[in-house]
Amino acid sequence: MLTATGLCKTYNTPQGPLQVFSNLNLTLLQGESLALMGESGCGKSTLLQLLAGLEQADAGSIQLAGQQLLQLNDHQRALFRRQHLGIVFQQLNLIPSLNVKDNLAFQARIAGNHDLTWQQTLIQRLELGRLTDRYPHQLSGGQQQRVAIGRALAVKPAVILADEPTGSLDERTGDVVMTLFLELVRDSGASLLMVTHSNRLAGLLDRRLTLHNGQLQ
Ligand SMILES: Nc1ncnc2c1ncn2[C@@H]1O[C@H](COP(=O)(O)OP(=O)(O)O)[C@@H](O)[C@H]1O
Ligand SMILES: [Mg+2]
Repeated sequence: MLTATGLCKTYNTPQGPLQVFSNLNLTLLQGESLALMGESGCGKSTLLQLLAGLEQADAGSIQLAGQQLLQLNDHQRALFRRQHLGIVFQQLNLIPSLNVKDNLAFQARIAGNHDLTWQQTLIQRLELGRLTDRYPHQLSGGQQQRVAIGRALAVKPAVILADEPTGSLDERTGDVVMTLFLELVRDSGASLLMVTHSNRLAGLLDRRLTLHNGQLQ
């Protein structure tokens, strides 16, 4: 479902070039869930940004849902991302001027695959029913996180990329949200690549890989 081959990424920094990885390979099967672990600063978020097409790789190829990501121009890539990828990063980027219902539907509408029944299922399962008319600033952190999860799933993506999706929540709230998230991912049949620092959470997924010195082990 997702194959990355020979990925290289170097950032230019005031201290000179910083090589995050060179020749990194990764495969994610259909419906598979994979935990991505590793020390802070090892490049986990960078890898997700590359896979999402939000950062440009220096070299390598990324095949996602049958499409070579690096062959698309910016516009095509944005379109492709909306249609096939669900993204849950720590910065939730909910749209402040849209209420919960519209935040959920927005991306699916643009992608042209808005499914009202699926949206209602998500609202119900994520227990957002009483909150649909509220705006992001009127929600708790856990509630905002559930909206971000609903939004990612609303497009029925082939692949979900999640970067410590419950990292900013207290443990109990985080556990509740994570359980819902993993159930919905499983039911939707999407593949999941999730950054986590928690061995316990990693243990809930099918497989785990650790990024160390620019290599996945
Ligand atoms: N836009 C950027 N410009 C320069 N360096 C960056 C940039 N983004 C991240 N880095 C550096 O790249 C390395 C990997 O960062 P990151 O992918 O965020 O790590 P992780 O998510 O594993 O904590 C870090 O050393 C970080 O400081
Ligand atoms: Mg990170």
